[in-house]
This record gives sequence, C-alpha cells and structure tokens, in this order.
Amino acid sequence: MSEVKVIGIGNDHAAVEMKNQIKEFLEEKGYQVINYGTDSDESCDYPEYGEKVGRAVAEGKVDAGVLICGTGIGISIAANKVKGVRAAVVSEPVSARLTKEHNNANIIAFGARIVGIEMAKEIVSAWLNAEYIGSGRHERRVDMIRKIEETR
Ligand code: RB5
Repeated sequence: MSEVKVIGIGNDHAAVEMKNQIKEFLEEKGYQVINYGTDSDESCDYPEYGEKVGRAVAEGKVDAGVLICGTGIGISIAANKVKGVRAAVVSEPVSARLTKEHNNANIIAFGARIVGIEMAKEIVSAWLNAEYIGSGRHERRVDMIRKIEETR
C-alpha cells in the first residue's frame, strides 16, 4: 500500500462507540477519516457497510479501510467479496503488522465485542505503521490471490 492519508471506516450497530473512538484516534494522528458506517445503535446489516468500505478502497476513494462489527468477521467477509479487497480480521497487533507486511491487507477488521479500545488502537497503529514487503514469495502469493479473483 502506498502512503495512507485517507481512511474509510465502517461499522454496524455493535461498534458505533468504538468506531467513533477509532475515528478520533486516527484524526488526532493526522489521517482524514471518512465515515461509511452507521451512527445508530439500532440493529442493522453489516454487509452493507463492509461493501461500502470495500468499494471505496477498491475504487481508490480512500487509501485504506477499517471495519468493525461485533466480531469483525461478517463485515470483513462482505468486504472481501469486492474485487481488489484484502480485508484481514485480527485481534492483536502482531497479526495486524504481519497482514500488511505479508498480505498487503488494505482493510483491517476487528470486533468491538472481542477487543477493547486500547487493543483496537494498537491494532490500527501496528497495521498503519507496517510496510508491505512487496517482493519475493509475498508478492508471488498476493499475485496468486489476485488471479483467483479473475476466475470468479
Ligand atoms: C450483530 O449482532 C453481529 O452479528 C455482527 O456485529 C457481527 O459480529 C457479524 O459478524
């Protein structure tokens, strides 16, 4: 991923408070954050928000995406249906760093019912501060993932 300046954030009803906290955290760090998520605690459908952020990333409207639902799983599955998206669900910062270094994940996802806010901040920081290795076996494997998309 090239330099990240604009981040799209999306969430369902399970993650409104965490979304607001992470948005503020990222803005304090100087990122521009576009909110694609719900701001209501009323039950809603996470695929809508996974798709919105996935399309924004794939179309280059934002440089990267953050997705939060109860577990981070449903919303990332939805985002991963968009061509060009590599969304990774993590619950700690080592995986967050490695999914940028090895998989060039362009969306990071986590669960508001799984991780606390401090862990969520560590996850986002580790992912944003990491660099895709982008050569050798990692590049070959990410290219293989791209090829799978061509056969859908
Ligand atoms: C909503 O209840 C919950 O299913 C959703 O936030 C998410 O955890 C789905 O994967």
